[in-house]
Amino acid sequence: MDIKRLASDASVPSLCEAAQGKFRLGAAINSWHLNPDSPEYAVIRRQFNVFTLENQSKPEPIHPEEDRWVFEPVDRFAAFGEETGALLRGHTLVWHSQCPAWFFRDGENEASPELLLRRMKEHITTVVSRYRGKIRTWDVVNEVLRDEGGMRQSDWYKITGKDYIKEAFRTAHEADPDARLIINDYNLESSDAKADTMAELVRELLTENIPVHGIGLQMHLGPDTDMDRLKANVRKLASIRDIAPDFRLEVTELDLSCYRWNDTAEDIVWDDETTSRFTERYTELFRFYLELADEGILDTVVFWGLHDGVSWLNGFPRRHKNYPLLIGRGLEPKPAFYEVIRILEESTKNFK
Ligand code: GLA
Repeated sequence: MDIKRLASDASVPSLCEAAQGKFRLGAAINSWHLNPDSPEYAVIRRQFNVFTLENQSKPEPIHPEEDRWVFEPVDRFAAFGEETGALLRGHTLVWHSQCPAWFFRDGENEASPELLLRRMKEHITTVVSRYRGKIRTWDVVNEVLRDEGGMRQSDWYKITGKDYIKEAFRTAHEADPDARLIINDYNLESSDAKADTMAELVRELLTENIPVHGIGLQMHLGPDTDMDRLKANVRKLASIRDIAPDFRLEVTELDLSCYRWNDTAEDIVWDDETTSRFTERYTELFRFYLELADEGILDTVVFWGLHDGVSWLNGFPRRHKNYPLLIGRGLEPKPAFYEVIRILEESTKNFK
């Protein structure tokens, strides 16, 4: 491998081109990466064809006060999609985190279910209609489940029960009937109980004709992710297709931390052994993604970040530097990048 080559160089293979005919391959970005003179922009254009805004389309930044909206960064994102033809994902309409407190208050009191649902619907209608036809997939609700299974006891849930989930999907569908609507969550691959609750909840929603079109598997993975369990839980979620044949899974926030979640050890030493373990994990994952794509279950895989230097994992949950992506902080493709390209190119099946 020539380490001087950058992921933007025309001589370096392109991930999304290698995945063509199998799935779209993308990254979470920020509007400031969309400056055509920046090195990041060249990587964006060469390597990926589907994008999510990392933070700027969440309720808090976009709708900080009931009568104040901040659309500019998302407008910039939408314009980029139109200019380039990239597929854009909207993230996220309803979440317990990064959602301003005013949603849940009525003066001194807690908002009533009616008030909260009215505000939620106004929020969704405004955002989804504004980007109708431009942002083609929405993470409608994010992280509505508890880690140990069952519903997350968020303010949304405490005030409205499951109604907020159902109304969120109905409202988004009314605002853009062509948009793909996703229920997104983390640890679905590692917690059997959480995957069970998700399967149960989605079956319930589909039975009630709620327009939910897919599950977003965040897939923030680590060195301790159990790959057999991951595959079994993903298969369990894919089995929802027995009642909804067009139902899809998307991988929405992929990264592979080099630390276990609660590991407070010193910075990892990046030697040949860690490099090859990292490469092997990514290879095994992408082989599985290809299998799912061939079966028509998966058509989108998005990394959470463009390169190691901008990953959220550098600051969370510990201060150590992290190395979770295929492109390093100097924008250099890692050995795992080339290995993923190799297995993508090896696979020849066509995708619809
Ligand atoms: C979750 C959210 C994302 C993002 C990541 C961490 O997975 O869905 O929006 O906040 O955490 O950056």
